[in-house]
Amino acid sequence: MADSYDFDVLVIGSGPGGYVAAIRAAQLGLKTACAESRETLGGTCLNVGCIPSKALLHASELYEEAAHGVMAKWGIKASNVELDLDTMLGQKADAVKGLTGGIEFLFKKNKVEWLKGLATFKDAHTVEVAGKSVTAKAIIIATGSSVTPLPGVEVDNDKHQIVDSTGALALPRVPRTMVVIGGGVIGLELGSVWRRLGAQVTVVEYLDEILPGMDEEVRKESRKIFKKQGFEFKLGTKVTGAKAGDGGVTLTLEPAKGGDSETLEAEVVLVSIGRRPNTEGLGLDKAGVELNKRGQIEVDDRFMTKVDGVYAIGDVTPGPMLAHKAEDEGIAVAENIAGETGIVNHAVIPSVVYTMPEIAGVGLTEEQAKADGEIKVGKFPMLGNSRAKTNHEPDGFVKVIADAKTDRVLGVWCINSVAGTMIAEAALAMEFGATSEDIAYTCHAHPTHSEALKESAMAVTGKPIHV
Ligand code: FAD
Ligand code: NAI
Repeated sequence: MADSYDFDVLVIGSGPGGYVAAIRAAQLGLKTACAESRETLGGTCLNVGCIPSKALLHASELYEEAAHGVMAKWGIKASNVELDLDTMLGQKADAVKGLTGGIEFLFKKNKVEWLKGLATFKDAHTVEVAGKSVTAKAIIIATGSSVTPLPGVEVDNDKHQIVDSTGALALPRVPRTMVVIGGGVIGLELGSVWRRLGAQVTVVEYLDEILPGMDEEVRKESRKIFKKQGFEFKLGTKVTGAKAGDGGVTLTLEPAKGGDSETLEAEVVLVSIGRRPNTEGLGLDKAGVELNKRGQIEVDDRFMTKVDGVYAIGDVTPGPMLAHKAEDEGIAVAENIAGETGIVNHAVIPSVVYTMPEIAGVGLTEEQAKADGEIKVGKFPMLGNSRAKTNHEPDGFVKVIADAKTDRVLGVWCINSVAGTMIAEAALAMEFGATSEDIAYTCHAHPTHSEALKESAMAVTGKPIHV
C-alpha cells in the first residue's frame, strides 16, 4: 500500500494502545512505524504505571503478611522479618526492563520500525521525528496521558517529598507519614504499598466518597475495609496549598464546600487527582485535528478523527484511562485501517483496583442501571464462600445487576481477593448477552471464589444456597 508514503501506518506513542496497534498493523501486512520519545517502549503502563505498581503491590503484600503476623493464622511463624527496600525496588525495575524489552523484541519480530524521538505533525500525513520528515497513509495518535497538576502543590519527584505516581514508585525509604491527595485508583493502590511497608497513610478526597465512577455500595464498603487496614480518610476536603521544608510537607486543607482551613503534616505527599491527555506540542493544528472541551481527541466508531487518515486511541481519547481499553482499541484501529471491521464494545470494559482485597466492576453501577429502568439485584457475601472463608478472606461481596424484565446482566461488581480475575468471567458473560440465570446455571468449580459469582447470580432470583 505504501507507494507514495514512507509507511502505510505510523503510530505516535508506544503505550498499550500504540504498540498493540503497530504490531497488529504489521501482522496484517501493513508497513508500520511507531514513534516513541521515551528511551524504552511500552508507554506509561509498562514503564511507570500498571507494571511497576503491580510489582510493588505484590511484594508489599508478601512483606505485610510475613511481617505483621498474618501468616501466623496458618501456623507459619516468621521472626525477624526485615524489609530490603532496595531489592524490592530492584525487582520492580527488573519487571519493567523485561517487559519493555519484550516489546522491542516483538517490534523486531513483526518488522515494526521504532522511530526514536518526539513526533510532531507537519500535516495530516506527515510528522517530524528527530528532525526527519516521515509520511504515512494512516497516522494513529496514541500519545496517552500525564499526571494532572494541582495548583499550589508542586511535584518534585527528585526531592521525594511531593511526588506523583512516578515518584511514589521510587521512594528511597519508607516515609513515616504519607498524605495521598485524591482517593482514586492510584491513591489507593500506591497508598496501600507504602502503608503495608510501614507508613501511616491519610487520603484527602475532594468528594464525599472515594473511587468515583464505581458502584456506590462498592465505594462505601471499600472505604470501610481500607479504614480497617489503617488508612485514614478526610473526605469532602480540598488541598489549597503545600509547603515543603526540611521537616516535611505542610498541607493546607479546606472543606470542599468552604469553611475554616486546617493544616496537615506529612513526610511525603502523593498527588493523584487524575490524568490528562497528552496533546501539547503534537502540532495537532497542522493536521487539522481539534480537541473537545476536556482536551481529548474525539473519534468515530472506527477510531478516526474528523480528519481523514488520522486516528486516535487510548488515554488521549474519551473513555476510561485503562491499558486494556487502549489495547483493544489498538487492535480494532489497525483492523479498520487494513479494511477489516475492528470493533470495541465500550459498554463492557472492566475496571480493577489492585488493592487487597481487589475491587472490580464491569457494566453499569446499580445507580446507573436503576436510572435506566427496572432492575433486579443479587448479592452474595464472601463470608458465605467456602474458599474465601478457608483463606481467612471474609471481606467483600459479589453483586449482579440484571434487567427486571429480560434478566440480562447489566453490571457486575465485586470486592474480594481475586476480583480482578473474577470480573473477566462477568465481562465474557455480558459480551455474550448472558442472563443472570445463565450464570446461575453454569457449573463453577468448587471450592473457588468464583462460586460467589454464581451464587450472586442465583440471588437475583432469591435462591442462593450458602446464606
Ligand atoms: P501511554 O501508555 O501513556 O503511552 C503513550 C506513549 O506515547 C508514552 O510512552 C509517551 O512517551 C509517548 N508519546 C507521547 N507523545 C509523543 C510524541 N509526540 N512523540 C512520540 N511519543 C510520544 N491501567 C490499567 O488498565 N491497569 C492498571 O493496573 C493500571 N495501573 C496504572 C498505574 C499507574 C501508576 C498509572 C499512572 C497508570 C495506570 N494505568 C493502569 C493506566 C494505564 O497506564 C493507561 O491507561 C495506559 O498506559 C494508556 O495507554 P496509551 O497507549 O493510551 O498511552
Ligand atoms: P482517579 O480519577 O482515579 O482519582 C482521582 C481522585 O482525586 C478522584 O477521587 C477525585 O475526586 C480526586 N480529586 C480530584 N481533585 C482533587 C483535589 N483537588 N483534592 C482532592 N481530591 C481530588 O485518578 P488517579 O488515581 O490519579 O488515576 C489516574 C488514572 O489512571 C485513572 O483514570 C485510572 O483509570 C488509571 N489507573 C488505573 C489503574 C487500574 O486500572 N488499576 C491503576 C492506576 C491508575
